Amino acid sequence: MQVRIRAVMAALLLLVPSQVNADGSGDPAAVSSSDGEYADKNGNPTFKIDKDGTVDWYTSVGYIRYTANCMQCHGPDGLGSSFGPSLVDALKTLSYSQFTDTVTNGKQNVSASQDLVMPAFGTNPNVMCYLDAIFVYLRARSDGALGRGQPQKNAPKPAGYSKTEDACMG
Ligand code: HEC
Repeated sequence: MQVRIRAVMAALLLLVPSQVNADGSGDPAAVSSSDGEYADKNGNPTFKIDKDGTVDWYTSVGYIRYTANCMQCHGPDGLGSSFGPSLVDALKTLSYSQFTDTVTNGKQNVSASQDLVMPAFGTNPNVMCYLDAIFVYLRARSDGALGRGQPQKNAPKPAGYSKTEDACMG
C-alpha cells in the first residue's frame, strides 16, 4: 500500500511541471541578459515584457520574422492554420532544443493522415539568424504574456545587434 501511494505521488509530481509552467522550457522569468537577449535560469532564450507592454528587442524582431517565414503555415500570431499546427500550443510542451532541432531539420509526421511537411530551414539565413528571436516571440505568445498582433512598443535596438546580424546574414 505504502509503495503504491508513493508510486502514485511520483507520477503526480511528474505531471505537475507541465501544468504549472505554460511552456516546455520551464519558468520563462528572465534572469540575465546579453546584448538585449534575455535568458531564463536554465540559460534558454526568453522574453521580457514590461508592465506597460514594452517588449524586448528580440520579441519584436521575432514577431516580424515569424510573420515573414512561418505565418503562411502556422497562422497569424502562431495560432495555427490548415497548413500547420498552432505553435502557441506546441511551445507549451516543446523545449528550446526541440524547437531549434525541428526548425533546422524539418519534420514529417509519417503516420498523419494529412501529408503536411514542416520544411527544414537550416540553410536559410532569414530564419536561422533569427531563430532565438522567433523562439522568444512564440514563447511569449505560448506563455500568455503577449497578445495577438504586432507589439506596439519595443525596447531600443541593442548596441551590438546590427554587427551580429550582419555577420550572420553574411
Ligand atoms: C510550408 C508550411 C510550413 C512553414 C512555412 C513552417 N512550418 Fe512549421 N510545421 C509545418 C507542419 C505541417 C508541421 C507539423 C509537422 C508534423 O508534425 O509532422 C510543422 C511543425 C513545426 C514545429 C513542431 C511542432 C510540434 O508540436 O512538434 C515547429 C516548432 C515549427 N513547425 C516551427 C516553425 C517555424 C518557427 C517556422 C518559420 C521559421 C515554420 N515552422 C514554418 C509547416 C510549416
